[in-house]
Amino acid sequence: MKELIQQLLEQTVIALKQQQLLPEEFEPRIQVDRTKDKAHGDLATNLALMAAKPAGKNPRELAQLIVDNLPQSDLVEKTNIAGPGFINFYLNNDWLASQIEAMANSANANVKPVEQSQTIVVDYSAPNVAKEMHVGHLRSTIIGDAVVRTLEFLGHKVIRANHIGDWGTQFGMLIANLEEIEQRGTDAGSIELADLEAFYRESKVRYDSDEAFAERARNYVVKLQSGDEYCNTMWRKLVDITLNHNQAVYDRLNVSLSKDDVMGESMYNPMLNNIVSDLKQQGLAVEDNGATVVFLDEYKNKDGDPMGVIIQKKDGGFLYTTTDIACAKYRYQELGADRVLYFIDSRQHQHLMQAWSIVRKAGYVPEEVPLEHHAFGMMLGKDGRPFKTRSGGTVKLVDLLEEAEQRAQTIVAEKSRDLDAEQQAQAAKVIAMGAVKYADLSKNRTTDYIFDWENMLAFNGNTAPYLQYAYTRIQSIIRRSELDISALNQAINLEQDAEIALAQKLIQFSDAVHNVANKGMPHMMCNYLYELAGAFMTFYEACPILKDVNEQQKCSRLRLADLTAKVLNQGLSLLGIETLERM
Ligand code: ARG
Repeated sequence: MKELIQQLLEQTVIALKQQQLLPEEFEPRIQVDRTKDKAHGDLATNLALMAAKPAGKNPRELAQLIVDNLPQSDLVEKTNIAGPGFINFYLNNDWLASQIEAMANSANANVKPVEQSQTIVVDYSAPNVAKEMHVGHLRSTIIGDAVVRTLEFLGHKVIRANHIGDWGTQFGMLIANLEEIEQRGTDAGSIELADLEAFYRESKVRYDSDEAFAERARNYVVKLQSGDEYCNTMWRKLVDITLNHNQAVYDRLNVSLSKDDVMGESMYNPMLNNIVSDLKQQGLAVEDNGATVVFLDEYKNKDGDPMGVIIQKKDGGFLYTTTDIACAKYRYQELGADRVLYFIDSRQHQHLMQAWSIVRKAGYVPEEVPLEHHAFGMMLGKDGRPFKTRSGGTVKLVDLLEEAEQRAQTIVAEKSRDLDAEQQAQAAKVIAMGAVKYADLSKNRTTDYIFDWENMLAFNGNTAPYLQYAYTRIQSIIRRSELDISALNQAINLEQDAEIALAQKLIQFSDAVHNVANKGMPHMMCNYLYELAGAFMTFYEACPILKDVNEQQKCSRLRLADLTAKVLNQGLSLLGIETLERM
């Protein structure tokens, strides 16, 4: 809708230029905003205020010229000029009703697919092998997955890339430790490493305290890197145990990652020698104290000299940055990416900027293919400090999800007494996962966020349970009507203010989906759905649906309610959140 008004204004600017009422070189960024008060129309623009100076006119006079030159359009009922020169647009209800009709008859709520489908690689989740997934990975996983679903829904080809940390010198000690466990008689195939964190810690303790163990570990690192079969088999076991463990978390969370999406650090290892020699050949990398370094002018060290980024250590080892250089190149050259999105916490920003600066200089990925860091802040406890267990350890994801379900069970047992035990268990699961995900998704991801059980599980406010409940409530109204809504052919009439307001919210769905896709920010969808649910509640209070209505009103309102439920369901599903028919 905003876009449509924007397009009308763009045409107007061209018309004014042709009449030499605006200078040819004037290229405004036309802004159209929703009005806060419906008395001032539905949408407004400050174009006349922005263009007044270049046009050499007073803003109100220019506003009048803009209004006079607006192309004919069905969607605008009338306009007026307000204050210093704002132009207000009142939308036409017949047009609105036709849009709603189209939405109700469309399988995808009339969301415009993208004109040009792109190949988009999305780097998200990316936990490390033999380490428990922690809350940092939770954010990347949940936010990345919502964006992936949205991009796919719009018709893009999405490649999910789970860049797991499956390579590095730590594997020496991990292999040595796994070997000991096996020697003690545990069959490796059956090891579940239920507590990966403990396994990792234990390996580290052994490494630091037992010289013979450390010696063996160092030896295994060398062997693993030179392709030794035994070490490779042991490494593979560690990777598989971790992947099984993570997959259970993904499935439980309804995250769309599978084992096929794993493209870990190890995958790029065979490419790193070539990267280093190519960067040397291009004159970008130089030897410096035995290491190979790229000096970047745009990053200065304390003394104001270009900062050196090491890409190969003295001992021949490669670094995290070297891998990310190879990785970006691979995503463009081999996967054919038109755009690459990375969902990684903000502390890795400098690392990515350095890797990509080298990637651009070396010509591995052309400027027109965006490499985007979608950074996010930390998850904090209620005390505002990093989220930790009471004893100060990292919170294991499995424990967090377990607690969410228990809390949801208590709530469901109290609120949904008429559900049987199985239905209650299912409801608790859907509410718990929804709450954890939504709490994260609904915050602007760039900031830190406070993890608070009471808030996220509340049935009012901007929460998953509130939206899920709005959906369920509509389903219950529809059941009570005993009608098949899809078979109703009466038109949707928009008469009451609350009906119009709900309809206007509904047709903004397409904009919300596109915004999430363009900006990689799912909180925009959350805000939209929250407003939609609010508009529905207002409508429901003001406009009876089943009682005290004539047949035509009843059908019209039922169809409007049904469309609202569809959009809520579709929007939540793009966020990876399920709904319930009963709760
Ligand atoms: N495994 C890394 C970590 O746990 C995240 C990897 C992100 N992706 C990347 N291409 N660097 O911090």
